[in-house]
Formats: sequence, C-alpha cells, structure tokens
Amino acid sequence: MPQDWRARPNAPAAGTPLAALDEVPADNGLERVFGEGPRAFRVVLFKVEAGVRAYVNECPHVRIPYHFSSDVFCVYEIEGRRDLMCAHHTAMFHLDDGHCYDGPCKGERLLAVDVAVEDGAVRIA
Ligand code: FES
Repeated sequence: MPQDWRARPNAPAAGTPLAALDEVPADNGLERVFGEGPRAFRVVLFKVEAGVRAYVNECPHVRIPYHFSSDVFCVYEIEGRRDLMCAHHTAMFHLDDGHCYDGPCKGERLLAVDVAVEDGAVRIA
C-alpha cells in the first residue's frame, strides 16, 4: 500500500466530513471506514492535547488494523500524553505525532491523515 494516504484505494476527498468534534472520545478512538473489504480505507480519530489527530488504522509492524475490536482502541494516558497500544503485539505510539516508541516497530510511525476542525466538525483537509 502506498505511504501517501491520498493515493490509497477509497481515500476520502478533501472536505469529507468525519465526525462532530464532540464525538471524538478522550479515552478511545473513533473509526470511519470508506469502502469495503481489504481495500477499505480505515481512518481513526483521536483526541490529543492539541486537538484531534487522525491515522490510518494500520500498524506499521504487520500492516493490519491496530484496534482490539471495531470500536475499541487501546488508548492510555501516560506521563501526560495520550498514547495508543496496538492490540496485537503491544507496540506503543504517541498519538500527538504517531511515533512508535516501544515494541516491534519501534522508530516507525502511524500514517497520519490530514484533517481540519471547522465549526465543531472534523473533516478531511
Ligand atoms: S501488528 Fe501492531 S505490534 Fe504487531
């Protein structure tokens, strides 16, 4: 799969609405799926101190979704930061920049999706 998220199958166009800002939980992720099957584009919204970050739901370790179940993402508050743990082999990521700081893909990053918040809504930028 290309590392340019906009080149991936079913990637949503700029301006596509993803969620109301209030819908993005502080202790979980909020997934939106475009398309079906293995070519679906899965983007997850996370609340961070600076606002909202969005990442493709694909762990850099084995290139599979990092959730525990479709609506459960392993988000933890650690040393004042919000981090994600991949449910498969426990890689740890900082959600403010997607950097993996521990686990089998240490040093790699989640693939960030460009989003913008306007008028209380999160959209693809
Ligand atoms: S698939 Fe995520 S740590 Fe292995």
